[in-house]
Amino acid sequence: MAPTLRATDAQITGDVLVLALKRDDKKKLSIQTSGIRFDTASILGALDEMGATGALDEVIKLPGDSRKLLVITGLGSGDVTHETLRRAAGAAARALLGQSSATFALPHKNREEATAIAEGALLGSYVFDEFRGSTKSDRKSPLSKIEIHTTLAGDKKLSLALNRAEVMARYTHLVRDLVNTPPSHLNPVSFVAKFMPLAKKLGLKVEVLTEVQLKRLGYGGIIGVGQGSANPPRLLHISYRPKGAKKRLAYVGKGITFDTGGLALKPAQGMEAMKSDMSGAAAVSAAVLAIAELKIPVDIDAWAPLAENMVSDNATRPSDIISIYGGKTVEVLNPDAEGRLILADALVRAAEVGSKNGKLDGIVDVATLTGAQVVALGTRTSAVMTNNEDFREKFMSTVSRTGEQFWPMPLPEELRASLDSPVADLANIGERMGGMLVAGLFLKDFVSADLPWLHLDIAGPAYNESKPHGYTTVGGTGVALRTLLAFAEDIVGQ
Ligand code: BES
Ligand code: MN
Ligand code: ZN
Repeated sequence: MAPTLRATDAQITGDVLVLALKRDDKKKLSIQTSGIRFDTASILGALDEMGATGALDEVIKLPGDSRKLLVITGLGSGDVTHETLRRAAGAAARALLGQSSATFALPHKNREEATAIAEGALLGSYVFDEFRGSTKSDRKSPLSKIEIHTTLAGDKKLSLALNRAEVMARYTHLVRDLVNTPPSHLNPVSFVAKFMPLAKKLGLKVEVLTEVQLKRLGYGGIIGVGQGSANPPRLLHISYRPKGAKKRLAYVGKGITFDTGGLALKPAQGMEAMKSDMSGAAAVSAAVLAIAELKIPVDIDAWAPLAENMVSDNATRPSDIISIYGGKTVEVLNPDAEGRLILADALVRAAEVGSKNGKLDGIVDVATLTGAQVVALGTRTSAVMTNNEDFREKFMSTVSRTGEQFWPMPLPEELRASLDSPVADLANIGERMGGMLVAGLFLKDFVSADLPWLHLDIAGPAYNESKPHGYTTVGGTGVALRTLLAFAEDIVGQ
């Protein structure tokens, strides 16, 4: 459960108070607040003595005199952006496990900055405890009540923005939960079961294709990847059709509930992280729920092709040829390049449904697609590839608003030839160098050139295997959810 959130301009009475620490060019420390009266001189000396620097992710807890705890969170040395505030608030929230409530009195100049503080505090307040048995009771829970101290507390637009922040955080937590859930408890069928009640509650239409239907209708990618598993594949389709919709979008997410690599078996070390290979599917499905809950006037469909990539006597063999929805054939040279196969099916279907009643304004796929993405951009920056630069520019302008890290990558035409197959329309792997781009080029083959398309490779950022930072906890991060929500808002100008 995400914490409850409220804005207040009343005198602070809570037990836990969060303030910010900033160091200026001359290395002078100052305490920064939302404008509360506070005797900072007394603690600045102590902070200096302790060697505090005010760096981002530096969180210092001091005993408060009249209250239980003073929490000082660093704002870093550069400009204070919305993302700085989000991260500083998130780092403080993470340090407050075990406390039930806290008042965030961080500096801000306007509604947007106050909202960024709320977002960070909400996103940092996350713990995944579902599978702790006997040790659960001695684990600390995250904040359940967050107060944002602000002189703007009465502002109607602020309360709307905080409501949106709460919805965004709740669905980000849902994505993190799904990513953290191991394949013993999350397979294509149970993935669908998790979304069913949530979608129904919002009055959304849900359509699920079973393995029998997928086979009959020609979804050779999803069938081929899923056929090695005792857990059958699914195609989940959630649609939101508000009255007076201004634009039409489709979101498609890779839903491999576990990726062993299939007969191209991955090494044991690190394979556990492949429970995160459904991050794209979780992000797009949750995004559409969030968009519906916030009543954004956009026609939108989430498509989640779901399969478990396993090793068995039924698994796809290297050299097998499969037929993607719509009829294009693929020679499967490497069963570990499975994401593109299930995405190809879903992209073709999404475009087909999208063109039924008019024209789609765009299609966005989200996938933990390649290790090459992590090599190229590291673990915190996702890649954006496209067949339409204007569409990408729109997306990048949304990105600058949400603060998530995405970076444009090219789809060089000359790499496409490496996907040629001597026996099928194309092969599922090509040139090794530039593997992220080759995967993007494979997908591009399944999208018509006049349909604006974005491919988001989130392989690194989806799953945090190192230390927590800012509002990002360990394990599933929920990456892309925030930007997918904001992109739908931006495209309808809301
Ligand atoms: N799910 C993996 C990609 C991945 C790697 C995600 C690391 C997150 C972290 C994907 O299915 C895969 O195995 N890709 C192969 C493709 C290759 C065989 C062309 C890869 O990147 O090695
Ligand atoms: Mn794989
Ligand atoms: Zn995979």
